[in-house]
Amino acid sequence: MKKIIFSLLAAVATFAFFFSGTIDLDNLFNYANQEIPSYITRDNTGSNALDDKIATLGRVLFYDKSLSEDNTISCSSCHQQAFAFSDPAVQSPGVAGVTGRHSMRLINARFAEEVHFFWDERAATLEQQVTQPIQDHIEMGYSGTNGDPDINDLIDVLSGIDYYQQLFPFAFGDATITEERLQLALAQFVRSIQSFDSRFDQGMAQVNNDFTAPFPNYSTHENHGKDFFLDPPPNGAGCAGCHRPPEFDIDPLSLNNGVVPTADGSGFDYTNTRSPSLRDVVRSNGATNGPLMHNGAFPTLLDVVEHYNQVPNHAGNNNLDPRLIGPNGLPQNLNLSPGQKDAIASFLRTLGGFNVYTDEKWSDPFEPDGTIEIIGGNLGIYDLARPEIEIDIVPNPTQDQALISVTPGEYELRLTDSSGRLVYKCSIQNEASLSLGHLSSGTYFVMIESNSSAKKTSKKLIKN
Ligand code: HEC
Ligand code: HEC
Repeated sequence: MKKIIFSLLAAVATFAFFFSGTIDLDNLFNYANQEIPSYITRDNTGSNALDDKIATLGRVLFYDKSLSEDNTISCSSCHQQAFAFSDPAVQSPGVAGVTGRHSMRLINARFAEEVHFFWDERAATLEQQVTQPIQDHIEMGYSGTNGDPDINDLIDVLSGIDYYQQLFPFAFGDATITEERLQLALAQFVRSIQSFDSRFDQGMAQVNNDFTAPFPNYSTHENHGKDFFLDPPPNGAGCAGCHRPPEFDIDPLSLNNGVVPTADGSGFDYTNTRSPSLRDVVRSNGATNGPLMHNGAFPTLLDVVEHYNQVPNHAGNNNLDPRLIGPNGLPQNLNLSPGQKDAIASFLRTLGGFNVYTDEKWSDPFEPDGTIEIIGGNLGIYDLARPEIEIDIVPNPTQDQALISVTPGEYELRLTDSSGRLVYKCSIQNEASLSLGHLSSGTYFVMIESNSSAKKTSKKLIKN
């Protein structure tokens, strides 16, 4: 019995830890300096270089339902970590109906030559892309049309939320919220989502990064599939001409691939010329990350290979990529055998990574009830979300003495200067008197950290 209660407690503790609902500004996740294999050379970061503080803000925004008009939808409603940031549904529900196209995976969006985003490449940069779902009438509803509020109304809403009054100054130096800052932060979070621990990457490491060599960690079947993927017709299927290894990003010059019905089956759409990276197109065990193509028409990889084996001849499609037109001037028929088709699908499965599906740095930082707690940070303004520990400093500003009183408890007190350097440290239970006579005048921070819990708080102290 005791054992059962104990394991129940352990389960509750794990659960509580997983949904920690806490952002610790003193212990940020590494977004900016993640390891990138040397053979990955394409990068569309541009001038918005990754910064852990700004990407952390981006993570909160990405998971925040406050970004939708009726507080029910976040980016993560349609881009779910457990599905490589895609959606198992063909069309995803937004605030006012379902999306016209399938939600795209957001894996390795950074590592691509193509800088235009969306299936039809209508966004000129990732920065321009990330605030469009917010301003879409169906997706998040701040469109400014159809009686919807607009993006400035959203900025007003966000300005009134306490954790953004902490996170914007932390990320950008002041509390001003603009569409541009939303773009920078969301784009940084999206660009941080990377996946380089697939069997393909393990294979690369074994062959000196030459992806044309047979991989020792692949089966013969998978190596055949790799060859078919890489070689152009008539020997291979020519996939690599458009989905280019080792990034597996789309060739910016690609036209459409002959998948032309719309997702709802009501018509045809010839404008889809972009694919997300084929990394994590499915899990390494073959489990789906959602249906494939802009219209979600193909549930499996074999359906995809069937499509390319015999590209349909659609009379109205004047945007079919010439690489998919056979020597007879008709959409290609590769005449692949069942074994060859299966080999290509087996190879595509090796592009699935592991860590990206569960790493906490890309996970939901909110509690199930929608709350979030911001702790740490060495700026006094972060106090307001943490009433658990109250700090009082008298007098403040001061010349040489200050009496610090705190909510009773066992704490460590640290005094740091404005650049975060530790100046003084002591333990404190109720109050402590600090002598500051020897310190130069300026701004300092009194940081109080609980000995028994992870609770921290800080307050600004001015020395004249
Ligand atoms: C209601 C579902 C939904 C929501 C909410 C949503 N998206 Fe999307 N997202 C989609 C769909 C569908 C597409 C493809 C749309 C198209 O191409 O027309 C897409 C495309 C994208 C792309 C382009 C990927 C690529 O490779 O071109 C990015 C990036 C993206 N979304 C990020 C976001 C961010 C950031 C948010 C939150 C601010 C968000 N999405 C909210 C459904 C959604
Ligand atoms: C001419 C360029 C081109 C070639 C060659 C090509 N593709 Fe594609 N591929 C695309 C485009 C463009 C899309 C997105 C089209 C859409 O959704 O309408 C796409 C989409 C896909 C998708 C779905 C991606 C997703 O996120 O849903 C898979 C899987 C895929 N291709 C695999 C292959 C394989 C396997 C081959 C070789 C047999 C191949 N492609 C050859 C251009 C190409």
